[in-house]
Amino acid sequence: MTRQRMSFPTGGRGWEDLKTEMKSRTKGDIDWRNGRTPLFVFYCDEETYEVGKKAFFEFFTENALGGKRAFHSIGGMERDILDYGLSLFSAPDSGEGVFTTGGSESIFLAMKAARDKLRAEKGFRPGEDKLNLVMGITAHPGFDKAAAAMDIEIRRGPAGDDKRIGADSLRPLIDDRTIAIVGSAPCFPHGVVDRIDELSDLALDAGVWLHVDACVGGWLAPWFTRIGRSTPDFDFRFPGVKSISADLHKFGFCPKPASTVFYRDTEDLERAKFDADAWPNGRFVTATLAGTRPGGAVAASWAVLNHLGESGYCRVAKNLSSMIDAYVEGVEKAGFRMIAKPDFSIINYTRDDVDVFAVAELMNERGWLPGLTRSPKGFHSMMSLLHDAPREEYLADLSWATEKVMAGSVDKATIEATY
Ligand SMILES: Cc1ncc(COP(=O)(O)O)c(C=O)c1O
Repeated sequence: MTRQRMSFPTGGRGWEDLKTEMKSRTKGDIDWRNGRTPLFVFYCDEETYEVGKKAFFEFFTENALGGKRAFHSIGGMERDILDYGLSLFSAPDSGEGVFTTGGSESIFLAMKAARDKLRAEKGFRPGEDKLNLVMGITAHPGFDKAAAAMDIEIRRGPAGDDKRIGADSLRPLIDDRTIAIVGSAPCFPHGVVDRIDELSDLALDAGVWLHVDACVGGWLAPWFTRIGRSTPDFDFRFPGVKSISADLHKFGFCPKPASTVFYRDTEDLERAKFDADAWPNGRFVTATLAGTRPGGAVAASWAVLNHLGESGYCRVAKNLSSMIDAYVEGVEKAGFRMIAKPDFSIINYTRDDVDVFAVAELMNERGWLPGLTRSPKGFHSMMSLLHDAPREEYLADLSWATEKVMAGSVDKATIEATY
């Protein structure tokens, strides 16, 4: 049966009417405010949430595309944010960054820079010489997207027993057509940081670009380190690291859409740029894939970074790390084991005596959106402070669901791991 198409609205509806309908449309949504979703939303505290929201709407109309010519306020705030990141990630003086709309865009831009560098250096021709990208099995599909768009072959190596990607995994896959190797900080599936020290040595040895995907951990890791929580280093202090992607809209706790990509050398950023001149309006040069970008996102990130600052991020890091420890302890007490020991805020756990997907199915009935990994089969949560309040309830439901599955109340789980 074909779907009945909505006809174009006749118009004239007032705000109260629209708001009522929009509110009623949220009835089927997941209850994110009460920590029922293991991904998609991030939060640290109410004041920061309000600061981000207010700042966004102060600059609701401004377009970050015009940050250099029209909206100097936005251009200036963007500059500040990039400077904060360059310092945080120990970039050399030659380093530079770009504010983007998300991790996938940051990754795309870094991969374009790496591809164009290899082409420039080795004379590989567009459309004729197939190039490749080497990364671990755990790297984010954002790289597959970039590779698909740029006609690059993806080669994935295995993770170690601790779920980290090391040099031995990637070395055999590299050849003279490798545009880059990738390490994650941390990887999304298991929440652990790859062996960036080894990958840096490998990159220098093989003469290839190393990109660190710190979309999840980037803006959080420095504060974990600052509060004495030991987490592996991943940034430009490793000489092989050429670029880093780090999302503000994840653990920077800034409103979406907001990410950053940093390059060790400004000339590499130049390679990531799009430079178009063959049209009537003159030269159009952008360092982003997006053209128009919300000025509000830049303003909101600037405001959140300045609101929290070092002291606020350290406070959040403390709260978040104690919450993660409490979850780890709780799920272990409930008979589960960590698939990998988490470095930051992603936990991935399982048990062997029960079908965890069946447990997830029952949890879903109680309003918990399932986050799952399929190999190995396990629960997966990217946690922020929205998950603090419902911890006891979550753990109680986890035990309840596990017991029910053990008692044979689910025939066969139909649920699948999807992102
Ligand atoms: C490790 C990692 N890299 C990249 C991304 C892509 O980020 P975005 O969804 O902002 O495009 C994600 C998203 O969860 C991620 O976890």
